[in-house]
Amino acid sequence: MTITARSDASGNPPGTGAPEGGSTAGAAPEAAAATAAAADHRIRDGRLVPEVIRAEFPILGTANAAGRPLVYLDSASTSQKPQAVIDAMDTYYREYNANVHRGIYEIGERATAAYEAARGKVARFINAPDAHEIVFTRNATEAINLVAYAWGRRNIGRGDVIVLTEMEHHANLVPWQLLVQEKDADLEFIPITDDGVLRLEVFEVLLRLKPKLVAFTHVSNTLGTINPVAEMTRLAHEAGALVLVDGAQAVPHVPVDVAAIGADFYVFSGHKMLGPTGSGALWGRRDLLEAMPPFLSGGEMIREVHLRRSDFNEIPWKFEAGTPDIAAEIGLGVAADYLAALGMGRVREHERELLEYALDVLQREVPSIELYGPMDPELRGGVIPFNLPGIHPHDVAQVLDRSGVAVRAGHHCTMPLHERLDLAATARASFNVYSTREDIDALASGLKEVERLFAG
Ligand code: ALA
Repeated sequence: MTITARSDASGNPPGTGAPEGGSTAGAAPEAAAATAAAADHRIRDGRLVPEVIRAEFPILGTANAAGRPLVYLDSASTSQKPQAVIDAMDTYYREYNANVHRGIYEIGERATAAYEAARGKVARFINAPDAHEIVFTRNATEAINLVAYAWGRRNIGRGDVIVLTEMEHHANLVPWQLLVQEKDADLEFIPITDDGVLRLEVFEVLLRLKPKLVAFTHVSNTLGTINPVAEMTRLAHEAGALVLVDGAQAVPHVPVDVAAIGADFYVFSGHKMLGPTGSGALWGRRDLLEAMPPFLSGGEMIREVHLRRSDFNEIPWKFEAGTPDIAAEIGLGVAADYLAALGMGRVREHERELLEYALDVLQREVPSIELYGPMDPELRGGVIPFNLPGIHPHDVAQVLDRSGVAVRAGHHCTMPLHERLDLAATARASFNVYSTREDIDALASGLKEVERLFAG
């Protein structure tokens, strides 16, 4: 089993049942979550009702210039935002816009409280043991850079090995390339099989090199592969390595429990999990974060400043230099609560069913389609890269766009993975909580139209 599941009987991650950050604490949090789910019209018979959920995303009611309704199948690039997230940001700007940790006046204190409450919501959502271990960042990329600079520059030296995988997003590759070039250290890569699964037997061999760090994605943004992160973490720790997990494509789609995974760092972006752009987080083990020097420096991250030296703030503020994106992180907290109320077990099941449906419909309706990644929906999130033979994916995406169907085309920030699979580019459809079977049907009929056009 590749997913670290932590959903309770109702499908909700424990202790995160209330939509607006309300606590389920008390004698029976699981019962409270089950009661909340039973009263939630977005859940029926224990399953998500995407048709109801869609109504909470204003953009999904829009159409293109030709009047074709938006069929959004690019959620792996960025997710759409529910009204609750938009409202939370709007309310901040309209009612209590003030800087955090500074103003000793009502709206300043309200802003600080909302910002720190968001940290608590994010911590609960991924079951972080301590909210102070959540550092707000602009996105997963910034979080990885933070670790590469603050931890990496101090702990990686000449000849040290960092192990990555062939399926990494550039965000979990380039920062490590820069680090090893600077330190004269080495990168090694866990290879993949032709259907996009990590070769763990080779990982075990690479661990004999005694790497200092192993960094891998939880869910591949291009192939959808769900990696066995808890098992990989255990193996890496046995070999004495620290572990960083890139959870950008996992946190929005599968139950994530950082305590159960046991890694040392876990990063993710807010904008892929129904939250605003400019929001995201690094979770790190307290002792590691405390030992790390600052990444960015300036205001907010200090305790005391003298002309020639400064003392730094405690974690997490030591890593949050300057005025943060307050509205975005408040929005992220609401997004975390929104997903928690739906229940991440249910979210995963919805996307798994949709994936199964899509793999079946696409192969039946568009027999020439080339699909990549594991064909077993149990091993895969809601991401489908594909090609139509002889037609460039940019052309595919452009023709689909005329029917209102939005997919991504290109290398999806994974050029080495495309090279490994001997592909110049792919088109990619990806889902979220609001995706429906009708979206898949629209994709299939759009692809038939592409074929007709290019056959003529
Ligand atoms: N990482 C994003 C994607 O996969 C941008 O599309």
